[in-house]
Amino acid sequence: MSRIADFPIDPLFTNRWSPRSFTGEAVPDAVLHTAFEAARWAPSAMNAQPWRFLVARPGEELWETYVGLLVPRNQLWAAKASALIIILSARDLDYRGERAPNPSHSFDAGAAWANFAHQALLLGWHTHGIGGFDKGAARERLNIPEDFAVEAIIALGRRGDLEGLDPQFHGAETPNGRRPLSESVFAGTLDNPAFPQERDAA
Ligand SMILES: Cc1cc2nc3c(=O)[nH]c(=O)nc-3n(C[C@H](O)[C@H](O)[C@H](O)COP(=O)(O)O)c2cc1C
Repeated sequence: MSRIADFPIDPLFTNRWSPRSFTGEAVPDAVLHTAFEAARWAPSAMNAQPWRFLVARPGEELWETYVGLLVPRNQLWAAKASALIIILSARDLDYRGERAPNPSHSFDAGAAWANFAHQALLLGWHTHGIGGFDKGAARERLNIPEDFAVEAIIALGRRGDLEGLDPQFHGAETPNGRRPLSESVFAGTLDNPAFPQERDAA
């Protein structure tokens, strides 16, 4: 599938994709520092910065615990990542000195992850978001309190060759496409595509 943008954008956005073949090489602290620093500067409601990141790298005490949270199909490839990062978000924030629910805790954690992914790519590292894991087990095994939502796991790694990847994933090891903007952007209400001419052209 093509990764040609329909409208002009920085190539960063089409260059980011989610491979499954990773080399498993060690990720330098400097890469993590810079990627997390980019995540840190994401926008968030009331600047609450609800994101939290739990990190494990191969060989570290909790690495096998992290891998064990993944559904078996995801373990097949993500066990060769250089880091697994669990993204949490704080459900509450401080509002005028009081603790109050933060309705956008997940939304804002998503913005932070996007920053992380793009910054990692700029450093030559790929990310792959993972929703296929046992959130309850993560909470239990890692003592995550209920006031944090368990959002996703991110696999971070350098792209490896196909030989190291389970054959069932070979066919999907290529950047995918996107539906046209006409199906995502609407003028005022959902029944009124903002760019119908683009859909007609597709
Ligand atoms: C929150 C989230 C959960 C995902 N869960 C999985 C997963 O469990 N297993 C998997 O192989 N890919 C997973 N993905 C990867 C998506 O399928 C992928 O991002 C999507 O197809 C778009 O492709 P791209 O990232 O290569 O542009 C997930 C991505 C996100 C953002």
